[in-house]
Amino acid sequence: MGGPPEDASPQGESSSFKAFEAAGWSERAATYGALMARATVHAIEPLLDAAGVVSGSTVLEVASGLGDLSAAAAARGAIPTGVDIAPAMLRAAAERHPELTFVHGDAEALPFGDGEFDAVVGAFVINHLPEPERGVAEMLRVSRGRIALAMWDAGIPLFALPGQAADAAGLLDAAPTGPDAERFAKRENLLALLAGQDGISERTVTFDLEAASLDALWDCVLGGTVRTAARLRDAPEEAKRHFARLAEPYRAAGGGYALPTTVRVVAATRSRDS
Ligand SMILES: C[S@@+](CC[C@H](N)C(=O)[O-])C[C@H]1O[C@@H](n2cnc3c(N)ncnc32)[C@H](O)[C@@H]1O
Repeated sequence: MGGPPEDASPQGESSSFKAFEAAGWSERAATYGALMARATVHAIEPLLDAAGVVSGSTVLEVASGLGDLSAAAAARGAIPTGVDIAPAMLRAAAERHPELTFVHGDAEALPFGDGEFDAVVGAFVINHLPEPERGVAEMLRVSRGRIALAMWDAGIPLFALPGQAADAAGLLDAAPTGPDAERFAKRENLLALLAGQDGISERTVTFDLEAASLDALWDCVLGGTVRTAARLRDAPEEAKRHFARLAEPYRAAGGGYALPTTVRVVAATRSRDS
């Protein structure tokens, strides 16, 4: 189990957490696509719409992961750039989309100039930032148009079931001190990030995440999350038994599993006062 970070100052906590995230997501660059990217893909078109991305738009994808949102932006005729903190994710994105540009950087200190992009989007990243308000301020800074964020809704089985399985197995958090992973699953907290900006929009996207087997679902958790996977690693077999029991209500009629999943997409244009 992970103990407290060596440097317990807020700054030390933040850099320990970011290093943990960068290493954890790099380790998952080869497994993220199996199922987790098939969940996050549902946010791509709604995010591009909410950010007003059209042919010719320059778009920054913050926390680009495997780069699939950038590829969808390019398919609209836009000119995307991806930025991510995990080196192996960047390599995987570049291999998957060799014609596109992916650069290393921290969402809280974006390596771009003021107003450099027509639109800036961030899918499932805000919950990974030690200073999420700073991340949003950075997105607003580098955008001359809209910014858009996607986040999981509260309590969805994809994350509730592994959490409950870890609880049942008596497993404690194993990550360095980091941000509250659930904070922005609450609608009001997500919208509060955009308070004071103009043209705020909001929509939800609902779908069933289908998995062919329990192993596929479990592999999605271990290979598509960092903090949850760290929590499960000390007793994976016991936790998996609890997970199997908890997943029973989500068995699909035709075999496999179907997890009802809701994603919230919010967007805004930078206010001239901010
Ligand atoms: C859940 S994945 C989301 C990936 C992709 N946006 C998607 O929708 O599939 C989180 C991503 O955030 C990246 N990340 C975490 N902290 C970051 C930071 N401080 N700056 C930039 N990227 C970060 C990770 O490396 C990882 O690629």
